[in-house]
Amino acid sequence: MMPPMTDVSGLSIGILGGTGDQGKGLARRFALARHPVLIGSRSAGRAQEAADSIGHGARGAENAVVATEADVVIVAVPYDGHKALLESLRAELAGKIVIDCVNPLGFDKKGAFALPVEEGSAAQQAAAVLPDSRVVAAFHHVSAVVLMDPAVDKVDLDVLVLGEDREATDLVQALAAVIPGVRGVYGGRLRNAAQVEALTANLISINRRYKAHAGIRVTDI
Ligand SMILES: NC(=O)c1ccc[n+]([C@@H]2O[C@H](COP(=O)([O-])OP(=O)(O)OC[C@H]3O[C@@H](n4cnc5c(N)ncnc54)[C@H](OP(=O)(O)O)[C@@H]3O)[C@@H](O)[C@H]2O)c1
Repeated sequence: MMPPMTDVSGLSIGILGGTGDQGKGLARRFALARHPVLIGSRSAGRAQEAADSIGHGARGAENAVVATEADVVIVAVPYDGHKALLESLRAELAGKIVIDCVNPLGFDKKGAFALPVEEGSAAQQAAAVLPDSRVVAAFHHVSAVVLMDPAVDKVDLDVLVLGEDREATDLVQALAAVIPGVRGVYGGRLRNAAQVEALTANLISINRRYKAHAGIRVTDI
């Protein structure tokens, strides 16, 4: 597969909810790839603490500051806080590429399961709430544990990238590829994001059964 030729060098990456496992894991990998990283939080203090723990020049700030300042913004908050947070940042996120990696999942004693989403998927919810942003769905199947593991130099994973805007999906594919070992693979339009988000429930079942941090690989490309 020929990776997209988009030049992403120097783009700053902001992460809303970047104090969590997923946000810190992505922050660490993008910082290691020499991207300026801005960790967002509802609390500037927690953001700074997380940024300090990542190092490599990462900075922390409140979510609204991160949404304003970063070139590309990743949404890494739990599904139940997703809609309200994005509604509150509509103006700050206007015109930007917003990468949604949110998996709307529930958990019970049988394990993880996909939650119904009125708009179809978390990514479509983001697109509905942010009509002036370029919403791209990606990074649903990365394991935060793997991203944070200093022993893992190469992350063995394809990142499915979905969206309506080819330039934006190309850019996000190229961003995924700055993480050694990762390929960004175009996965279709946002109307097909629901099953990508839901597949995470299957990966969690696989992880439990096989004591693994499973990801996916797409063959023949
Ligand atoms: N963990 C993974 O391996 C993984 C992999 C792929 C995708 N994801 C997705 O990434 C997202 C984040 O996962 P996570 O495990 O990092 O979650 P998390 O640790 O539970 O939450 C991440 C951060 O979101 C903020 N937050 C929590 N509730 C919020 C609310 N109601 N409104 C606004 N912000 C809120 C918190 O930051 P502050 O309190 O500092 O504001 C928290 O540190 C989820 O949607 C998940 O499905 C996770």
